[in-house]
Amino acid sequence: MQAFLKGSTQSVKPQRDKAAAGSGGEKRQKAVPWVEKYRPKCVDEVAFQEEVVAVLKKSLEGADLPNLLFYGPPGTGKTSTILAAARELYGPELYRQRVLELNASDERGIQVVREKVKNFAQLTVAGTRPDGKACPPFKIIILDEADSMTSAAQAALRRTMEKESRTTRFCLICNYVSRIIEPLTSRCSKFRFKPLANDIQQERLIEICEKEIVLYILLQGIEALVKVSEGDLRKAITLLQSAARLSTEKEITESVIIEIAGVVPPKVIENLLQTCYKGTFEKLEVAVKTMIDEGYAGTQILNQLHDIIIEESLSDKQKSVITEKMAVVDKCLVDGADEYLQLLGLSSVIMQQATQNS
Ligand SMILES: Nc1ncnc2c1ncn2[C@@H]1O[C@H](COP(=O)(O)OP(=O)(O)OP(=O)(O)O)[C@@H](O)[C@H]1O
Ligand SMILES: [Mg+2]
Repeated sequence: MQAFLKGSTQSVKPQRDKAAAGSGGEKRQKAVPWVEKYRPKCVDEVAFQEEVVAVLKKSLEGADLPNLLFYGPPGTGKTSTILAAARELYGPELYRQRVLELNASDERGIQVVREKVKNFAQLTVAGTRPDGKACPPFKIIILDEADSMTSAAQAALRRTMEKESRTTRFCLICNYVSRIIEPLTSRCSKFRFKPLANDIQQERLIEICEKEIVLYILLQGIEALVKVSEGDLRKAITLLQSAARLSTEKEITESVIIEIAGVVPPKVIENLLQTCYKGTFEKLEVAVKTMIDEGYAGTQILNQLHDIIIEESLSDKQKSVITEKMAVVDKCLVDGADEYLQLLGLSSVIMQQATQNS
């Protein structure tokens, strides 16, 4: 891998022969999205989440497993980790009997918790697999996207979790841990999944490029992917696949990635700011209108403006007034307010603050 990178500092171009030999001359592959194709198959393949991997590996070696609560931002490996661990613990045959996976697309109201989850939890299980190997004498109930469960349904789990602790382990997964009721969090070992570090993401993406024989991708393209995905590997891989499909002949550069990711080009944002600082209100109106007409999402413009404003050389007071307005605009956009008016309102505040000396 390192040699691969060093060999071409400018562009990342796997050699066709080498890559073809690597894939063993496979026939046309099934059309699977790359995120699924490269979902970790075993716990060892999960990158960057060392603590949880260490605990799971201990239990793979025969130690007991606590009830688990995984939380963290999207695309950081929560679902993949527990599915891979369950597969390794039970093997493909027992998996279906031993693991109950419920996510937000399944009905998980209080009734289901009372019946389905409780009944499944009460079943006792043996400590060996059909193939004779030892396996843990408990089942696993995975409640994915648990933050969308009602508090009543969560409360119904409290006693079940305690009573069936001899035969069942629970794994709750969510993005927002504050939406899980306190009594449940205190029954679980909590693991925070961190956004993936840039170098780890980069390594994964290069690996995928090698395997998929993505020619024509430049290193700056990969760096741009890592930057726009902000630690969300799923987003990075999805964008990579779109980019690879889009430009089969052209080189995948930073600007191609920026284009497909819907990021507003930095020049456009800079232009808006300069209009705020030096222009007139009429010019500002035109600039905002043009941005909206170009189809950039209001929330995206807001996020990028936020990142830049923090770095600008304005006084603390000016920055605090502007960011307070940003918070209001953000909420209004979530509630479905008009993007043009909201951004114009925000830009006016920036203009006011920047032009008055304080
Ligand atoms: N730590 C990781 N190691 C390896 N691959 C990862 C990791 N995190 C994410 N991925 C990649 O991203 C895809 C999505 O990961 P996963 O479904 O586990 O995310 P998640 O944390 O459950 O996200 P969500 O909160 O949106 O459900 C996986 O298929 C895999 O390709
Ligand atoms: Mg998930």
